[in-house]
Amino acid sequence: LSAPPDTLNRVIAAEIGAARFGVHLGTRLLAEVGPAWAAQAVGDGVLVVSDANVAEHAAVVRASLEQAGMRVTEVVVPPGEPSKSFGEVERICRAAAQAGLRRADAIVAVGGGVIGDLAGFVAASYLRGVRLVHVPTTLLAMVDSSIGGKTGIDLAEGKNLVGAIWQPHLVVMDIGTLATLPARQRSCGFAEIIKYGLLDGPELFARVDDWPADGDVTDLIARCVAHKLAVVAADERESGIRASLNLGHTVGHGIEAAGGYDRYHHGEAISLGLLAALRVATVTAGLDESWWLRTRDALERQGLPVTLAREVATDDILTAMGRDKKNDGRSLNMVLVDGPGGVLLNQNPSIDVVRAAIEGIRE
Ligand SMILES: NC(=O)c1ccc[n+]([C@@H]2O[C@H](COP(=O)([O-])OP(=O)(O)OC[C@H]3O[C@@H](n4cnc5c(N)ncnc54)[C@H](O)[C@@H]3O)[C@@H](O)[C@H]2O)c1
Ligand SMILES: [Zn+2]
Repeated sequence: LSAPPDTLNRVIAAEIGAARFGVHLGTRLLAEVGPAWAAQAVGDGVLVVSDANVAEHAAVVRASLEQAGMRVTEVVVPPGEPSKSFGEVERICRAAAQAGLRRADAIVAVGGGVIGDLAGFVAASYLRGVRLVHVPTTLLAMVDSSIGGKTGIDLAEGKNLVGAIWQPHLVVMDIGTLATLPARQRSCGFAEIIKYGLLDGPELFARVDDWPADGDVTDLIARCVAHKLAVVAADERESGIRASLNLGHTVGHGIEAAGGYDRYHHGEAISLGLLAALRVATVTAGLDESWWLRTRDALERQGLPVTLAREVATDDILTAMGRDKKNDGRSLNMVLVDGPGGVLLNQNPSIDVVRAAIEGIRE
């Protein structure tokens, strides 16, 4: 993208397996999606997928694609997790077929992680795979879901049970889109950012740790994206180090499910899951208590919950964890850290230790 020289816009070059793509990060980039995609596109067709909450951002992307000479079709799905469904996959695929979208054409996902996962899965499946452009508009989608290639939808039996790994050809992160993001959603993105701080090491942790709640997040996003890209490049299919990204997610997913998926947003559940994991790590991995305290304060400063509501029962959380597809079914496989950057994969804390850790974050 040709950013004016006085801006801080940047491009992070991604290499994952055979995939090579640029992650563009900065301001006023929505209007650059058209020229950027036209410069590398093989086909001239695009299907823009978005939800009603990002209509103004999708309109800018759509106009820029049209101006760049692309044939644009649009599908708007209802906002929210229930749209990660076979019903929406069918609707988008049929819209693609009706628009005559071909193998060399692209799906452009404008929205949060729901849109990215859903449209990404369509891109992986329609015609056995078409090109994919991610334009993430939530902090969580920027630092997490638009990077790494995981796409998918939910079943009644569980989240993300059907999916594919499908890398994008282009990712465009326009920080300006975050201006319309509700504060609660911004906080949720910070749960993952604080997770990256714990995984990456003391330097990033310290920067994340005293980040003002209203501070400019561009640099932090760049660091998190670079961290995730490096991890995924080393282990695209999660046979090893990629599992480190699940820090806080074993208990977090249990809390999310036990709360019926409506009491806590994902990032809020991860905030609590991180604290539970660090509590476990103080018992089994020698993590110094001070890291737990600093992490709690950092989460709290970003508006995230740090105490677990009474109404969400520990037994329900543990039961839900048993169903978590990230467990192997026999034991509680967890990622822990013994300090920032000190990742410990495949830890097997006893249920009793995990139970006590969950009780330890009660209000
Ligand atoms: N593929 C992956 O690796 C990966 C990683 C993490 C999470 N996920 C998935 O991501 C999803 C969560 O993503 P999310 O937190 O972005 O949720 P989301 O996509 O539901 O977005 C949150 C809400 O914000 C709205 N929104 C989005 N951008 C906005 C903007 N700029 N201004 C105003 N409103 C806006 C959305 O319409 C929605 O109501 C989950 O389905 C999760 O499974 C995937
Ligand atoms: Zn997460």
